[in-house]
Amino acid sequence: MGDDLIERLRAAVGPQHLLVDPDLRAPYETDWTGRWSGRARAVVRPADAHQLADVLRICLAAGAPAIAQGGNTGLVGGGVPRGGGSEVVVSLARLDGIGPVDGSSGDVVVGAGATLARVQEAARAAGWDVGVDLAARDSATIGGMVATNAGGVHVLRYGGMVEQVIGLEAVTMAGEVLGRVPALRKDNSGYHWPALLAGSEGTLAVVTRIHLKLVPHLPDRVVALLGLPDLDALLAVAGRLRRGLPSLRALEVMFADGVTLTHEYNRLPLPLPGPPPVVLLVEVADAAGTRSRLFDALGALVADDPDVLATAVADDELGARRLWRTREDHTEAINAAGIPHKLDVTLPTANLAPFADEVRALVTSLAPAARLVLFGHVGDGNLHVNLLGLVPDDDSVDHAVLDLVARLGGSISAEHGIGVAKRADLPLTRTGAEIATMRAIKAALDPTGRLNPGVIF
Ligand code: MLT
Ligand code: ZN
Repeated sequence: MGDDLIERLRAAVGPQHLLVDPDLRAPYETDWTGRWSGRARAVVRPADAHQLADVLRICLAAGAPAIAQGGNTGLVGGGVPRGGGSEVVVSLARLDGIGPVDGSSGDVVVGAGATLARVQEAARAAGWDVGVDLAARDSATIGGMVATNAGGVHVLRYGGMVEQVIGLEAVTMAGEVLGRVPALRKDNSGYHWPALLAGSEGTLAVVTRIHLKLVPHLPDRVVALLGLPDLDALLAVAGRLRRGLPSLRALEVMFADGVTLTHEYNRLPLPLPGPPPVVLLVEVADAAGTRSRLFDALGALVADDPDVLATAVADDELGARRLWRTREDHTEAINAAGIPHKLDVTLPTANLAPFADEVRALVTSLAPAARLVLFGHVGDGNLHVNLLGLVPDDDSVDHAVLDLVARLGGSISAEHGIGVAKRADLPLTRTGAEIATMRAIKAALDPTGRLNPGVIF
């Protein structure tokens, strides 16, 4: 691999879209948390799937590894270089087209580089919405969200990213195009590419276009923060809300230490005094004109609940956004406090409270100086375990936490993926036969292992 690779890539995408200067490469070389970083041989920004296919073929011929990157909001080190300058980062940012929203079938075709916020805006203007929503919406791209099978805050109502994909188009390392866009709602003609590629973390093929299923836009929402004494009480209340509120869209959990840290960071007044030990964020949403009905229905369920210590409710959009900041600002507040080790786990509901207790005790015993911040999508059994104050390259506490997750019947990744961060832990929750089968699938699509090497395995 020498200058020949660079010259061929430059010819493929044009000089202004081949970045070799260290200052220009830098934003693509370090992840959002600052924990994962490496040096790229170059950053290439193809304009479309044809240029992308050329780029991948050129990399393959030169033996250069290629790493696809969307909005660089991943949290497991799967979208940035980790070698010492051999990898080519392929940015999908220019594949950002958004097609017309089809109002009769409720769908849209978008480029992999379109950000979630832009697609939400286009969908809402037509009375529709994207089923997945998450705090990184302004930067996260639809292609990256498919590649990681992103979850976010509305999974309990609409499912994760894979459930929003009608079809997709993707390019293999050999430059072959897989899939079909626009796709058909029903198509059982062989293997289903969205099911295979969603969550494959850019290791099998690079997603270029996505045919997205939309959901009705629900402009009326009511958001409440409920203060609770402990996680058991929260889960009991959450069960009653699930049963009693068909319009339920989000159930998110926070703990007093994380709420305090977040409000020290965003400098907004605490929404609940204390704060209480555990806070549940509830969102209900429905069609225009339903706001007061939503407010009454939620109020009727929580007003006399013996477990609820305190309540803050917003039935206007500004107030709803403000209450959401207590939850969504957690990520930035944690990052502002140091470079975190971020774990993202799911537990069976019955083991959420035991896990929360045991993980605190475990971290205290292994790393007494570390700071643990838990929060997450409790409606999906998903907790984000953030550890501050650990040595960046020492994963021993991470492994112990994931071992605990496995013993309690959980998964070591709920929605962030495996990346490079958790590949050593994959055998905790996947059998040898499963991992061997995954490797065989990888070898079928990328026989020389040049596409995002070192991720997942
Ligand atoms: C979230 O739920 O806010 C995201 O998964 C980001 C994070 O875990 O920090
Ligand atoms: Zn999350």
